Amino acid sequence: MSYKKKDFPTHNVRRFLEVGPIVLVSSAHKGETNIMTMGWHMVMEFSPSLVGCLISSGNHSFEIIKASRQCVINLPTEDLATTVVKIGNTSGRNIDKFKTFALTPKPAEQVRAPLIDECYANFECRLSDSSWVGKYNVFVFEVVKAHVAASPKYPKTIHYRGDGEFMISGENTSRWRRLFRPGML
Ligand SMILES: Cc1cc2nc3c(=O)[nH]c(=O)nc-3n(C[C@H](O)[C@H](O)[C@H](O)COP(=O)(O)O)c2cc1C
Repeated sequence: MSYKKKDFPTHNVRRFLEVGPIVLVSSAHKGETNIMTMGWHMVMEFSPSLVGCLISSGNHSFEIIKASRQCVINLPTEDLATTVVKIGNTSGRNIDKFKTFALTPKPAEQVRAPLIDECYANFECRLSDSSWVGKYNVFVFEVVKAHVAASPKYPKTIHYRGDGEFMISGENTSRWRRLFRPGML
């Protein structure tokens, strides 16, 4: 298939590339907890399990995570979409987001940041590399413990396309599985 294409503003290519699931990042420091919504994350390595996260320096979470060097990446599903947007449009500087959005903090095993019980999965993270924080606000975390719901197998995750538009995860298929080399699966 050949597409007829036109020039597209480079600052908007995120609309096509930014389709990883939206996550909620929970954090804690000196008795305070917080949550932020995050779409700009990137898997960087299998083992150790590394994930790069862009956390803007204007966010309260930035201060908490920079000081505590830990967080939990929580995976919300479609039923939490309203809360996900509201969390992303408020700051923990002014409110307690766990209380305001009636979310349940659950103790993590390896970090002090709490898990969000209502999320499908929770990934406990420790800061692995802070060398990109100063330049890009990117924290490279190692996932040190993962908690994932037993079912459903394919959660309805939410994916941000920019400009207020979301995509809900849809069809799953193994149709092209046989084309992979075993090491590439
Ligand atoms: C869909 C969505 C995606 C977002 N993605 C990011 C992101 O990747 N990085 C970031 O720094 N902020 C992102 N934000 C904005 C933060 O969630 C927002 O600034 C939040 O209120 C910060 O909270 P805090 O000040 O309590 O840390 C996103 C917001 C929304 C609604």
